[in-house]
Amino acid sequence: MMPFSAESPSKQQCLIDAVSATANLIEVRGLEKRFRTRSGEIVQALSDVNLDIGENEFVSVVGPSGCGKTTLLRILAGLEQASDGAALVAGETIAEPRPDVAVVFQQATLLPWNTVLDNVLLPVQLRGERSRASMDRATALLSFMGLGEFTKKYPFELSGGMQQRVAICRALMRDPKILLMDEPFGALDAMTRERLNLELMRLWSEEKKTVIFITHSIPEAVLLGDRVVVMSPRPGRISAIVPVDIPRPRSLKTMSLPRFGVLCDEIRSMFGAELQAAFSL
Ligand SMILES: Nc1ncnc2c1ncn2[C@@H]1O[C@H](COP(=O)(O)OP(=O)(O)OP(=O)(O)O)[C@@H](O)[C@H]1O
Ligand SMILES: [Mg+2]
Repeated sequence: MMPFSAESPSKQQCLIDAVSATANLIEVRGLEKRFRTRSGEIVQALSDVNLDIGENEFVSVVGPSGCGKTTLLRILAGLEQASDGAALVAGETIAEPRPDVAVVFQQATLLPWNTVLDNVLLPVQLRGERSRASMDRATALLSFMGLGEFTKKYPFELSGGMQQRVAICRALMRDPKILLMDEPFGALDAMTRERLNLELMRLWSEEKKTVIFITHSIPEAVLLGDRVVVMSPRPGRISAIVPVDIPRPRSLKTMSLPRFGVLCDEIRSMFGAELQAAFSL
C-alpha cells in the first residue's frame, strides 16, 4: 500500500474531484457534522450524508426532530462548516453564504420598522444595489404572491401566512439559483399552509429554482417534491430517497389520488411507531 505522503490529496480533495465531474447543482458526499456542546460533549448531528440534486429539482426532506435537517441546510447555506466530507454548489465547496443560495426559515424574521416593500428590498439595500429594476422586481414578486396591495404595510399588519410570503419574496429578490426552505410553513394553520403549498408550486413553475424543502409533514413533502429524502434519527443519515412519480401540475386534488396515499404510507412506514408521533400526519 502507498504510504500517505504530504503530496497525497486529502480525503476531502478526492471527494471534491470525484464529484466535480458530474452535472449536479448540489453535491453532498460523505458529509459529517459534529458539534461540541458547552459541556464538552460531542454530538454527531450528521453522518455519511450523500445526496445529488439536479438543477430545478424540488427535493423535500423529512425526518424526526433532531436528526440534523437544519444542520444540513445550514451547511448548504454556508452558515455552518462540515466536520468532514464535502458539500458543493456548482462544483464549488460551500465555504460561506453564496449570492446564488437563499434561505427561508420557519419564522419570517421581517424587520418590524420596515414596510413590506422595504423588507423585500433588504438584500439589495444591504449591498447598495437598490435601483429602479430592483424596485420593479420586488413589486412584481409581491404581486405574484398576492401582496400587491400590501407593499406599504408593516409586518404587524399582516397575518403569519402573509409575512411568510414576504420572506419568500425577500429570499427570491436576488434571483438565487437555489432556495433552501426550513419548515417555512410549520408555524401556520392547515388552510394557510395548503394555500402556500399551491403558491409555492406556482412560483416554482414560473421562477424555476432548485429547492430543498424541509418539513415535518409527509403529505406536504410528497405534494411538493420531485423526490423525498427520508432521514433517520440522530446521527442523521439518509435512510431512503423516494421518487414522487406523480405528474405535475399538482393540486390539492392530487392528495386524493391512490398513488399519493401509497407514497405517503411508504414513507411513513420507514419510521418506527414511536417516531410517527413526532410528525404532523
Ligand atoms: N450549534 C449546536 N451546538 C450543539 N449541538 C447542536 C447545534 N446545532 C444543532 N445541534 C444538535 O444537532 C442535532 C441536529 O439538530 P438539527 O437542528 O439539525 O435537527 P433538526 O432535524 O432540524 O430538528 P427539528 O426537526 O427539531 O428542527 C441535535 O441533536 C441538536 O441538538
Ligand atoms: Mg430543524
